Amino acid sequence: MKGLILSGGKGTRLYPLTYTRAKQLIPVANKPILVRVIESIRDAGIHDIGVVIGETGPEVREALGDGKQWGVNIVYIPQDSPDGLAHAVKISRDFLGDDRFVMFLGDNVIEGGVDHLVDEFSRNNWNSQIVLKEVENASAYGVAKLRDDGSIEQLIEKPPHPPSNLALVGIYMFDHHIFEAVNAIQPSARGELEITDAIQWLIDQDYAVFPHVHQGWWIDTGKPTDMLEANSYVLDELLTDMPVEARVSPDATISSDSQIDSRVIVERGAQIVDSVIRGPAIIGEDTVVENSYIGPFSSLYHHVTIENCEIERCIILEHSTISDLGIRLADSLIGRHVTLKRGDKKPAALRMNLGDHSRVWVI
Ligand code: G1P
Repeated sequence: MKGLILSGGKGTRLYPLTYTRAKQLIPVANKPILVRVIESIRDAGIHDIGVVIGETGPEVREALGDGKQWGVNIVYIPQDSPDGLAHAVKISRDFLGDDRFVMFLGDNVIEGGVDHLVDEFSRNNWNSQIVLKEVENASAYGVAKLRDDGSIEQLIEKPPHPPSNLALVGIYMFDHHIFEAVNAIQPSARGELEITDAIQWLIDQDYAVFPHVHQGWWIDTGKPTDMLEANSYVLDELLTDMPVEARVSPDATISSDSQIDSRVIVERGAQIVDSVIRGPAIIGEDTVVENSYIGPFSSLYHHVTIENCEIERCIILEHSTISDLGIRLADSLIGRHVTLKRGDKKPAALRMNLGDHSRVWVI
């Protein structure tokens, strides 16, 4: 089998972060989402991976290279315009050939990886397997209506009045018949070739499409709140799987007056001075935390500095400095090279230098 990862898209709901960075490269629990996707495909035994790239292609190529670092071979497939998921499949024909493949949207984060799904698909003769998840806001997704026997009756892309609460997760398995489907369908009202319509076409032609209802968590990371939620889930999962003795790097420095509970990962070169850290949390490489409190579900990426602050349930990206705030910073997503500090200039005022589409809540 082969892997196909879709990593185009502009990530508009994550502006301003995504003005300067592909959304799939934003880290959760200090690892870019795209790298998590690659590792989960590799862990399912698949080593040939095509990555469909759009405008942010150069950055994605630079981050992933040839894939050797993760033990896979990556081939890049440029998509000139964002014409839909089924269009991405269409342009990947040369790479995929007649092989069966798993397609994974590069902004989806799912509990437990995909090895069991890939295994199930490779042991059966189905033409396609789709993954479904019960959600509250089904109209934001592709939606499946199942028959009483569990087979698929209908798939609809983002219906205003969803016929069920079963959303299509961004993980799909196909054999080569999907190429007949993507060539047969027409663009949708939003002008895209929808993968949902292509799968519906397979069903209409009596190809075997099997649904798997996923029981764990799943996040399609569109908005900052999704990133924070995904970060919480992944930190939990990571810490459950990681032995206690592997969590604090021997190259990290922790002052004797600091308190770090056992559900905290401290990476190489980090320095924790006179601080309290409550997990689940991760402190990245060469990050400095001084005289501060870092609360649960926080991920500080590498080369971050936190001084005289309280932080909870935040993702802070590399090379940012937060100091002397005087109030707890919570539920926040902070980009790279950001400075956030309490100033001492008169007159006392908020002074900001924010990018387009920034959002700040002041109390
Ligand atoms: C796409 C699919 C949709 C699916 C979703 C999952 O939506 O079209 O069917 O439920 O991914 O992440 P999009 O993210 O393109 O809006």
